Amino acid sequence: MAQIAKGLEGVIVSETSLSHPDGENGRLMYSGYEIADLANHAIFEEVVYLLWVGHLPTRGELTEFNAQMASYRILPKAVAAVIQTMPNDVEPMDMLRTAASAFGAVQKITGKGTVEHAMALTAVFPTIMAAFDRQRRGLAPVAPRSDLSHAANYLYMLSGEAPSEQRTRALDTYLILTADHGFNASTFTARVIASTLSDMCSSIVGAIGALKGPLHGGAPALVLDMLREIGTPDNAEAWLNAALDRGDRLMGFGHRVYKTEDPRAKVLRSLAERTSEIDFFRLAIRVEDVALRLLHERKPDRRLYTNVEFYSSAVLHGVGLPDDLFTPTFAVSRVAGWTAHVLEQLKDNRLIRPAAEYVGPTNLTFVPIEKR
Ligand code: ACO
Repeated sequence: MAQIAKGLEGVIVSETSLSHPDGENGRLMYSGYEIADLANHAIFEEVVYLLWVGHLPTRGELTEFNAQMASYRILPKAVAAVIQTMPNDVEPMDMLRTAASAFGAVQKITGKGTVEHAMALTAVFPTIMAAFDRQRRGLAPVAPRSDLSHAANYLYMLSGEAPSEQRTRALDTYLILTADHGFNASTFTARVIASTLSDMCSSIVGAIGALKGPLHGGAPALVLDMLREIGTPDNAEAWLNAALDRGDRLMGFGHRVYKTEDPRAKVLRSLAERTSEIDFFRLAIRVEDVALRLLHERKPDRRLYTNVEFYSSAVLHGVGLPDDLFTPTFAVSRVAGWTAHVLEQLKDNRLIRPAAEYVGPTNLTFVPIEKR
C-alpha cells in the first residue's frame, strides 16, 4: 500500500514567495519580512500591497493604492439588496459567503484572476459585514469614507463614528498578523479552485467555507466562550482538567505547523494587554498558563502551544467587535492572502489533483433492483 499523508501533513505541493511559517523556530515572514516588524511598523494596506505586488510600496504607490481601494469599498446596489433579503439571524459567515458570491456575479469577476479582482474583493469585505451587522441591529448602513484606512473604515462603518487611534491600530495589527499563513486549509482551498482556472471569486467563496470550521478560523469565539465559562482565574485548573478528561480540545492551543509558540500569539498577547479590560486579561493569562502546563503534562509528546486564536479573541473583544464577527473579521484580513495565492497559483498553474488509495470492495456482482 502506498504511504498515505493523512491531512497532507508535511506534503509540499508547491513553491510560494508569499509567507513562510517556520514551525520549529516559531517565526513567520511575509515575503522576507518578520511578522513582528510588519505588525509594529506597517499598516494593513502596505502588507496587502506587499503580498500582491511583491515589494513594500513607496509613499506615492501607497497613496495611489489607497485611492483605488477606496473606489472599490462601495457596495453595489444588487449586493446591498441581497443582504437586505437575508434574515437577521443568519450566521455572519454564511452572510459573508453569500454576499461575496453575489458580489462576484454582479461585478463580473470572471476569467483569469487579476490584481483588480483581488482589490475589489478585499476592499468590499468590511462593507458587507458592517452593512449586515447594522441591519440586524435595525440601523441603516454607513457608507465608507475615502479619508479613512481599511481598519478605520471597518470600525467606522460598524458604529457610524470615527474610531480612536488606539482601536484602529489594534485592529490594523490584527489584520496584518492574520493576512497570510502558508498553505493553511482555506488558502489551499482557494488555490485548488484557482488551479481549475475558475474565477477568483469562486476561490474566495470556497475559502470562506473552509475558514468557517472550528479547527481553522472558527476558534476565536469559542475561546471567548471558554474564558467566560471559566469566569475567574481560580476556576481555570478545575475547568480545564474537566475539559481534558472529557477528551475536549482546548480552543486556542495546538497548531499543525508551530511546534513552539505561534509568533502571532506573542504580538497579540501584548496587544491584548493594552486593549482588553484588566480582569479579562488576567483571566486569559491564567488560563493560558494552566492550559499549557496541563497539555504538557497530559500530552508530553505533542508539543502543544498557544496559537493565534487565543489572544485574537481578547483583542477583537477589546476592539469592540461582537463575538460572531470574529471569524468574518479573520476573513476580512485573510482575503488579502487568499487572493495573493490565487495570483501566485495562476503564474505557474498546474491542476491540483491528488490521488487516493482505494480501500472499498471489489469485483461485486451487479444485482438488479427488484432482487436486492
Ligand atoms: N487541546 C487538546 N489536545 C489537543 C489540542 C488541543 N487544542 N490540539 C491537539 N491536541 C492533541 C490531539 O488530541 C491529539 O492527541 P492524541 O493523538 O493523543 O489524540 C494530538 O494533539 C494531535 O492532534 P491533531 O489533531 O493530529 O493535530 P493537528 O495538527 O491535526 O491539529 C489543530 C491542529 C486542528 C489546530 C488542533 O491543535 C486543534 O484542534 N486545536 C484547537 C482548535 C484551534 O485552536 N483552532 C485554531 C487553529 S489556528 C488557525 O487555524 C488559524
